Amino acid sequence: MEILQNWKSPSTRYQGSKRKLPSWIYEHIKDIKFDSALDLFGGTGVVSYLLKNMGKNVTYNDYLKFNHYIGLALIENSFLTLSSEDVEFLLNFQNTQYKNIIEYTFKDIYYKDDENHWIDCLNGNIIRLNEMYTGSTLRYKRALAYYALFQSCLIKRPFNMFHRKNLHLRTAEVSRSFGNKTTWDTPFEIFFRRFTKEINDLVFSNGRQNYATNKDAFRMDNRDYDLVYIDPPYFSENRTPVACDYGRMYHFLEGIAQYDDWLNLIDYGSSNLHLKDNHNHWSSKSELLEAFDQLFCRFADSIIILSYKSPGIPAEDELVSLLRKYKQKITVQRLQYWYALNKLNGKPHHNIELLLIGQ
Ligand SMILES: C[S@@+](CC[C@H](N)C(=O)[O-])C[C@H]1O[C@@H](n2cnc3c(N)ncnc32)[C@H](O)[C@@H]1O
Repeated sequence: MEILQNWKSPSTRYQGSKRKLPSWIYEHIKDIKFDSALDLFGGTGVVSYLLKNMGKNVTYNDYLKFNHYIGLALIENSFLTLSSEDVEFLLNFQNTQYKNIIEYTFKDIYYKDDENHWIDCLNGNIIRLNEMYTGSTLRYKRALAYYALFQSCLIKRPFNMFHRKNLHLRTAEVSRSFGNKTTWDTPFEIFFRRFTKEINDLVFSNGRQNYATNKDAFRMDNRDYDLVYIDPPYFSENRTPVACDYGRMYHFLEGIAQYDDWLNLIDYGSSNLHLKDNHNHWSSKSELLEAFDQLFCRFADSIIILSYKSPGIPAEDELVSLLRKYKQKITVQRLQYWYALNKLNGKPHHNIELLLIGQ
């Protein structure tokens, strides 16, 4: 498995990420004949990155704008990296014209005051990259800088999410049984430098023109992709609808990605100032089967690969029957998986990672 030797990929935890499963996925797709692939729910981009490493013509998609930047930096971009001059420019706040949205609006919610100020300034400098670059160079340089900023924001958050106003978990003088206070308190600048290096090391060309798109999966064109990989939010009896809503879990990063509009997008009635809700098919039990059906139907001409977990809603056999409406040959691969901090680890029939392959 040459392509998995010295495997590197985005390192920070993200809900539902396949960052620990590339070799298992590779094992089950390597003998399938395909050239072009759509990663419909791209997230961290780990699976797109595997496909890119396999030499495929890859389209990464995610409906969140902050993830779209990750797709641009990692998948669509083949050559550009952040130079040491770029990094020093981004970290020099002396001439920064910045708005202070985070410093004022998010006081005492996720980060300390000096950290909020730092994110506002860094974001101001990402915008200012237009003093040095234009066109697609500007687009990719900004995407690379956003990658490093978003990873830095995630690593400094308890649970690596923004689902609750819980800065006190970091600041309270208590003994903790979870998390890593040293990491949370490490200055942003140190992480930002580390993640610029991480993304620079991940950039490569596979000789193909790859794309990153930013669409709702239900509106994505079914443009003759040989293979479509589907890894949607996962719903189960143990999960609240909010936990299946990535717009809610990661709203703070989405706000940064839409910085100029952010203040208009916030739901000011919420204690953690999340964005106003958009309709999300994956949070509503009654809509789930119909949502899968729509996607399978839309991509019926492609090989369909669905990542799923058992037990989930809908159940595995319901999904297999649904896929059978569109595909003749179906195989199911399974892997018992241990999740960090999950109390169901090791229980029979729990935490089973599935790959449904319909050809
Ligand atoms: C389970 S995660 C995908 C994880 C990804 N395979 C990885 O390894 O990181 C689901 C992703 O779907 C995205 N998403 C949710 N609803 C979507 C929709 N309607 N259209 C496109 N993307 C969506 C979320 O933003 C999230 O990143």
